Amino acid sequence: MQKKETKKLFKSSWNYSEAPESISHIQIQKKYDLYIDGKFTKPVKGKYFDTINPANEEIISSVAEATIEDIDVAVKAARKAFTGWSKLSGKERGKYIFRIARLIQERAREFAVIESMDGGKPIRESRDIDIPLSANHFFYYAGWADKLEYAFPNKEPKPVGVVGQIIPWNFPLLMAAWKIAPALATGNTIILKPAETTPLTALKLAEVIQLSGLPKGVVNIVTGAGKTGADIVNHPGINKIAFTGSTEVGRYIAKAIAGTDKKVTLELGGKGANIIFEDAAIDQAVEGIINAIFFNQGHVCCAGSRLFVQESVADKVIQKLKDRMENLIVGDPLDKNTDIGAINSKKQLETIENYINIGLKEGGEIYQPDCKLPKKGNWCAPTLFLNVSQSHKIVQEEIFGPVLTIQTFRTINEVIEKANNTPYGLSAGVWTQNGAKIFHSTQKLAAGVVWANTFNKFDAASPFGGYKESGFGREGGLHGLKPYLKFE
Ligand code: NAI
Ligand code: MG
Repeated sequence: MQKKETKKLFKSSWNYSEAPESISHIQIQKKYDLYIDGKFTKPVKGKYFDTINPANEEIISSVAEATIEDIDVAVKAARKAFTGWSKLSGKERGKYIFRIARLIQERAREFAVIESMDGGKPIRESRDIDIPLSANHFFYYAGWADKLEYAFPNKEPKPVGVVGQIIPWNFPLLMAAWKIAPALATGNTIILKPAETTPLTALKLAEVIQLSGLPKGVVNIVTGAGKTGADIVNHPGINKIAFTGSTEVGRYIAKAIAGTDKKVTLELGGKGANIIFEDAAIDQAVEGIINAIFFNQGHVCCAGSRLFVQESVADKVIQKLKDRMENLIVGDPLDKNTDIGAINSKKQLETIENYINIGLKEGGEIYQPDCKLPKKGNWCAPTLFLNVSQSHKIVQEEIFGPVLTIQTFRTINEVIEKANNTPYGLSAGVWTQNGAKIFHSTQKLAAGVVWANTFNKFDAASPFGGYKESGFGREGGLHGLKPYLKFE
């Protein structure tokens, strides 16, 4: 069949009617204050900023901007609460965490819709992935709260104290869960700052936490941008910083706390290799490639953004990939058919477009399916780059958008060397029917997570984290308890 005909066939076979998720059942306030010491509190300086819907540029709500004065109040509240909370039995702490998990489950639809409105991700993902995984994380760590002495036998684990947690905009509620759940289970008190473009589900979580009856001051949620984050990092009353975000800010944090006795974990960027061997199940691998790079618009630190295909199957894989891209639906995040939603912010869209221009200038061969992008809002068509090599900037640097670079390889040693030739070390994936090849390559790949015949799979029981410039420390699983404990 001719290429053009295939294109037509694919387009005409998938005609979906609109299926928008209702927003009538959700409650968003016009204005949100800071959640400090168990109540919503006006910011000392009285400043607020807007959070918008990146799919239509409408203002959703106005959110308080915390300054150093507010952080002071929050740290004092957390310190005061620490005395009681850290002495409470694990069993009692667990009850509160279970309650938070159940309240998230009860409000799952509301959380999902707000997550998609505030951040631009498809409702299918927020509904089926972000929100269930968030509840699951609280359930999982609730179970550990009264078993710490079994997790670390003969070590007498103690909480570290007041922890500052700074999270990004790509998985807003899920990252809040990854941070808060283990810290609570281990008896710490918390000051959490969501990202400035996606504060709403963290504020909804504050409402849930208030409803759960958690003692006041145990969890404080403060909103603001980079300056607020830096104020948390530099506050002398904080014992540990947990950060997820860019490598640049991770470096800043590492420098800022050097010489202090603050503990730190950093979960930073990535440039994951996704490797397709010639003996892979090709159709499944193509779905895996799509999921690896286009999940959440590619705003994923562990995205499979560098594709390596064995030369003998490269033509076949690339053709199937292009065909599959023809029927990806880009558009309204609240439509249940949507595969790729809105880019999170204007700033991130500019970053992605800049990388696409660099890729073209450096001689890359671009492929984008013809999809109609909405006029208003931040959009980027799914993009492939062929004819690139290790030295291309778009192969080396994290783009954090729906842009995939494709290279080929001949031997397993060659592809492992190429895959590891990056300053990052967060994730990788291998696709093959040969078990020995899986064991061989997963041991040789310098990445915190290596998936085999799947990609972007998360589980509360499984540790996650990076090597090299992807950061250090692990979140999830038994490993995720450790950074919140000290052993004397
Ligand atoms: P960012 O690292 O600036 O933002 C992440 C969080 O850090 C936000 O809550 C932000 O308010 C806070 N923050 C910013 N400056 C800070 C400072 N000096 N001290 C303390 N906290 C601070 O990320 P940004 O600028 O939104 O995105 C830039 C690039 O970073 C993206 O293009 C992407 O490549 C990467 N990124 C990686 C993420 C990951 O999950 N690994 C998440 C977000 C961004
Ligand atoms: Mg927003």
